[in-house]
Amino acid sequence: MRLQTERLILRSWESRDHAPLATVLGDPEVRRFYPTVATPEQTKAQLDFSIERQAAAGFHFGAAELKSTGQFVGLIGLGYISDETRAAIRGQPPVEIGWQFGKAFWGSGLAPEGARAWLDYGFAVLNLPEIVAFTFAGNLPSQRVMEKIGMVRDADADFEHPRLAPGHPLRSHVVYRIANPSIG
Ligand SMILES: CC(C)(COP(=O)(O)OP(=O)(O)OC[C@H]1O[C@@H](n2cnc3c(N)ncnc32)[C@H](O)[C@@H]1OP(=O)(O)O)[C@@H](O)C(=O)NCCC(=O)NCCS
Repeated sequence: MRLQTERLILRSWESRDHAPLATVLGDPEVRRFYPTVATPEQTKAQLDFSIERQAAAGFHFGAAELKSTGQFVGLIGLGYISDETRAAIRGQPPVEIGWQFGKAFWGSGLAPEGARAWLDYGFAVLNLPEIVAFTFAGNLPSQRVMEKIGMVRDADADFEHPRLAPGHPLRSHVVYRIANPSIG
């Protein structure tokens, strides 16, 4: 899988992505709305899982690189929602869109640019009926990306993240959705 936007290359994971991905997911500022930073070992397990899903199902998020320099920007794309989390979301959607970029790349619209290309792929190529996104209610930058790409908040679908204990400060999640425009 390889897509191009004006400034980005979006591609399938490769094992060489481990070190730069571990830097992004190990950064406390990038992970400020997650319960923990990811250790390099956790990133390796996540990457191995994504590569396996990619081989079995065609995609599971992916890497973003800057077209002009080849620099690794971060993780973005469509991914399968775990059974446990899916069960907590109204309508039990199978596929989400998500993003985590290195902070050197924040603030110039790169995430919405990449996300629009992934939405197009999800609708035109994969024929998905809808795509959802969810995040901690306090993660306003991520919700801005959802809004910029035309997703709409579904307040009735707000949920408490099942992987976090009751009372955890990051437990409350909001859901945004977008329907495939070519499926009436
Ligand atoms: C969410 C994220 C991918 C946005 O990427 P981006 O390429 O910066 O997106 P944009 O440039 O469109 O900016 C989106 C919003 O981020 C915020 N933002 C921009 N620059 C920022 C910075 N340097 N620091 C903090 N927030 C910033 C602004 O609210 C902006 O909205 P605005 O354009 O209306 O001002 C990025 O902030 C990120 O990787 N965050 C950490 C990981 C994360 O929380 N992922 C989402 C998990 S659900």
